[in-house]
Amino acid sequence: MEITIRRVIKEDAAVFSALSKKTFYDTFTGTCTEQDMDEFLEEYFNIPLIETQLEVEDDYFYFAEYEGTPIGLVRFKEDYEEFEAIRQWKSLELKRLYILKEYHGKGVAQQLMDFVLDYAYSNQFEVVWLGVWEFNFRAQKFYDKNGFTFTGHSHPYPISNTPQTDLWYWRFLNK
Ligand SMILES: CC(C)(COP(=O)(O)OP(=O)(O)OC[C@H]1O[C@@H](n2cnc3c(N)ncnc32)[C@H](O)[C@@H]1OP(=O)(O)O)[C@@H](O)C(=O)NCCC(=O)NCCS
Repeated sequence: MEITIRRVIKEDAAVFSALSKKTFYDTFTGTCTEQDMDEFLEEYFNIPLIETQLEVEDDYFYFAEYEGTPIGLVRFKEDYEEFEAIRQWKSLELKRLYILKEYHGKGVAQQLMDFVLDYAYSNQFEVVWLGVWEFNFRAQKFYDKNGFTFTGHSHPYPISNTPQTDLWYWRFLNK
């Protein structure tokens, strides 16, 4: 599938918010209460927060667009805050990778992953790391295919009051 990868700008905040909410909802509905879901979506994907995040120069948000319409998103940043053990390497966190479900299995996620890895190689990162929900087996398989492995570390990632656990995965980059 021919997609365009485009950096998200502040004027896209409403579209980015809507796509974030839809893809998160579709991924995690049924794993928490509807109330917890609603609270989470509002807390993390509200437009003012996204506008603020989009102003940070080294916080990278991109859309995957198909025929001019965003169908997926990715966010990555050099960030060590949540995973101190990784600070010994120059590390890029793949913070979010979400594709609308009708475009799963069509190579869209792969193109975004290739884009992130290209960025990481070009900017001399040693590691790319990410968190994935312990029961998100499709995503885990996708990361496996891309050379990521479980670090042995996990952390709590609650959806509001519903406890959930994310596994940290990483991929070291060859020089
Ligand atoms: C995770 C995601 C980005 C992967 O993109 P994708 O286009 O679906 O990925 P692919 O189809 O290339 O790879 C998924 C693999 O998992 C396999 N798979 C599908 N369902 C599976 C399951 N329940 N258990 C194990 N493997 C599964 C697929 O067969 C495929 O493997 P294959 O290529 O060897 O056949 C996409 O599914 C997505 O956006 N999911 C919702 C959001 C999400 O979970 N994001 C990740 C958060 S960490």
